[in-house]
Amino acid sequence: MAESALETAWAALAQHRARLATQRTADFFEDPQRFERCSVSAAGLLLDYSRQPVDAAALAALGELADAAGLADAIAAMFRGEAINTTEGRAALHVALRQPRGAQIGGAAIEAEVLAERTRMLAFAESIRRGGRFDTVINIGIGGSDLGPAMAAQALRHFRGGASAGAHRLPAVHFVANVDGCALSDLLETADPARTLFIVCSKTFTTQETLANARTARAWIAGRLSEAAVPTHFAAVSVNAAAMDAFGIHPDQRFRMWDWVGGRYSMWSSIGVSLAIAIGAANFEALLAGAHAMDRHFREAPFGENLPVRMALLGVWNIDLVGLPTLAVLPYDSRLARFPAFLQQLDMESNGKRVTRDGGPVAHGTAPVVWGEPGNEAQHSFFQMLHQGKPRAAIDLLVGMQSSCGREDHQTLAIANALAQAEAFLHGRRGEGVTPHQVHEGDRPVSLLLFDRLDPATLGALVALYEHKVYAQSVIWGINAFDQFGVDLGKQIATTVLPLLQAETIEATVSPSLRGLLGAVRARRGGVP
Ligand code: F6P
Repeated sequence: MAESALETAWAALAQHRARLATQRTADFFEDPQRFERCSVSAAGLLLDYSRQPVDAAALAALGELADAAGLADAIAAMFRGEAINTTEGRAALHVALRQPRGAQIGGAAIEAEVLAERTRMLAFAESIRRGGRFDTVINIGIGGSDLGPAMAAQALRHFRGGASAGAHRLPAVHFVANVDGCALSDLLETADPARTLFIVCSKTFTTQETLANARTARAWIAGRLSEAAVPTHFAAVSVNAAAMDAFGIHPDQRFRMWDWVGGRYSMWSSIGVSLAIAIGAANFEALLAGAHAMDRHFREAPFGENLPVRMALLGVWNIDLVGLPTLAVLPYDSRLARFPAFLQQLDMESNGKRVTRDGGPVAHGTAPVVWGEPGNEAQHSFFQMLHQGKPRAAIDLLVGMQSSCGREDHQTLAIANALAQAEAFLHGRRGEGVTPHQVHEGDRPVSLLLFDRLDPATLGALVALYEHKVYAQSVIWGINAFDQFGVDLGKQIATTVLPLLQAETIEATVSPSLRGLLGAVRARRGGVP
């Protein structure tokens, strides 16, 4: 679409914002239909955006921005498997990973490959889950090879299927990521090597953190059992077959992924194998089905009823027009404790960019700073700032209608807290008799996402919703959501710093900024192993 159409759309939005700048959101509720008009449902989720500072005219102008940015074509291009990851010249086909037979997302060949690998992976997962040989499974991976499966395993803990499978105890599934090795060390203190399976998840199989933990785990198995035991105690997921060979991963215990899957979009692939072991194949497939239901909605629903598009446009409004650069994601379900961390990678690694697809500067704000914690606990920590502090945030409240642990009396309290906070964020506390210290301005923009129960299908839909929100926003900002050059520089420098840290002397060529630090570290550590 012509540049001028976009400029016109942005200019119109600026006028709407100026018109609404002093408007209190609570006053929009003079329309008794506000809730019905400003809520949209899909795939088991209800989005209530009636507490966002927009009216019908501003929403229409946001729709025009989406049209001017070519969002409809961009969505179609993603599902067709076009190379929408322009800098790396490849597709971003995570939607192909959750497709059912016959959907042909990405084409017939990709569908066949995905379904074949899914069947292999789930059969392996069930054999580990029910086979009784292993009581401990340790997933080794970082970033997208950790956050999604770890978040989902915690969220779906109540779907792990009881303590036993027939005569056997189900294995406990753990996730380790950090290069400091402490999480792994803690697990190895009590794990029985004969009954422990490690799953190394790394798209590239070159990530320093993952390889460091995998080598330590390998040495532990080889030392406590034997070198010959390594192939049966390791499985792996990667595109890098040569590196899996070199590590000694048996061909039957390795699983494919494809370069058209971004790490942060990969939990639907064999990267989810540890999750599949934790919750079982049927629940894993229900997770995929939930995500696919959201995919269909994103692809087919008109923008006015399209949940991810609605969320994307409201995000653009809050970031670029209202000037709120942060998004607090606050689940009222403690099983979603890692969901904000998962979203941090999804949103900020995707859209934390400052140049357009063509390499020019982006004219508008891009990814929000995403942060959050389980809402009820956060009420007693940082909600003070949300209500009365100077930095203001847009807020997503995620609320389950049923308990994730069978304690409905407790969930009633959780829901009451979420609704009470939504009211406080909207109305605040002002007026006669309210001292300055007690004033709550209100007018904090809140979206509520309601779901029946945190089950696999609902979680799949929830994750897919945010994935599509991120993609829709990237299209509006004109950026590529699927590369991550911003993490490469630190990785590169790490490889040059490590030998400096281990060297006997500090060479004269080392930068003055690093020289002082290296000296301080060496003085405090003595020798560096
Ligand atoms: O953190 C950067 C990153 O490249 C992420 O995009 C990715 O999810 C993570 O590293 C892990 O990469 P890999 O799966 O290749 O080990």
